[in-house]
Amino acid sequence: MAAKWDTGHVNPVLCLAVSKERVIASGAESGEVTIWSEQGTPMGKIHVKGDEDVTGVAFSPVSFSKLYAAHGETISVLDTRVLAEPVETFSVNKDEINCISVNETDSLLAAADDSGTVKVLDLQTKKVCRTLQRHTNICSAVSFRPHRPQSLVSCGLDMQVMLWNVQKARPLWLTNLQHLAQDEEDTDLHQSPGQLFNPPLAHSLSISNCGNVFCCGAEDGKIRSFRITGTRFEEDLCFKAHTQGVSQVSFLEQDPGQTFLLSGGNDGRVCLWVLGKDTVQPQKPQKHLHSKKSTSKVKLKHMTEASPRVTSSLCIEHGEKVNWILGAELQGSKVVLVADPSNAISMYQLGEL
Ligand SMILES: *[C@@H]1O[C@H](CO)[C@@H](O)[C@H](O)[C@H]1NC(C)=O
Repeated sequence: MAAKWDTGHVNPVLCLAVSKERVIASGAESGEVTIWSEQGTPMGKIHVKGDEDVTGVAFSPVSFSKLYAAHGETISVLDTRVLAEPVETFSVNKDEINCISVNETDSLLAAADDSGTVKVLDLQTKKVCRTLQRHTNICSAVSFRPHRPQSLVSCGLDMQVMLWNVQKARPLWLTNLQHLAQDEEDTDLHQSPGQLFNPPLAHSLSISNCGNVFCCGAEDGKIRSFRITGTRFEEDLCFKAHTQGVSQVSFLEQDPGQTFLLSGGNDGRVCLWVLGKDTVQPQKPQKHLHSKKSTSKVKLKHMTEASPRVTSSLCIEHGEKVNWILGAELQGSKVVLVADPSNAISMYQLGEL
């Protein structure tokens, strides 16, 4: 069962972040930002100016008390120890921001917006150092690559995924998921008629710690994994993960040889996927196990893999459309925090997944 963190917000929670020191930040509709201890106790609350929805929060990787919060077209820099007026604000995007990412040295911040633009801000000079403009629809997610200075990946509702180097104004490489989807059709064993025409609008993005592998979640319920080699990338895995759009994907800390990926969907499910490095024998997919109606709100379902390289997966019926998922190690155990249209954050022990 999920523990509920329900004393931090009045409005639906939209985004989450955790610092290296295990402080949690959440952003919600109408300008709410809350800072939590790892026990789930609110330590501070603030309303950002303008009361716009807070769509992205990110801790500085080098200074744990520094939090970036995106709301409307603005990014506020907050001091989490004294939640008061922002230390600084940046208004460089011309449309609503959907996602922010800070590079490992806290020197660059990328902000993706509704116009499809990614603004890259130099945090030292406090100036925009690059405007990345190629998406033709909402840019839903952006992320810097670990260990690869100045390299980032973006995706959007134009179904495009792009690899950028901040020094260049044009993408190094791009892929349209719709074109990939046509090749995937005959290998997709879970396709059901209702989903045939859901276009793969890209909602979510996560890059693994190695910096060379990233995953994208899309409206067609699929997760695609890509491998970056030099200045290009290629799809190396695609599997049906949710019956509706995949609103969130998030890599977890990796054990050698295994990659764990969390996903959340508009179907109200939260899943943990184990992506095997070695190719295993393709198995005949079994029918989903239908558990008898249980009185427990939390139903566990073992699913068979939709792809030879998803070696196992477990899903939980969270029951509400997932706005954000965050894997973290809190109080010594691995947990997943889930934000949904309610004002509470749900915390699942990873053992439950
Ligand atoms: C972050 O960005 C700065 C400025 O471009 C760069 O010098 C630094 O190497 C980057 N850090 C990482 C770890 O990517």
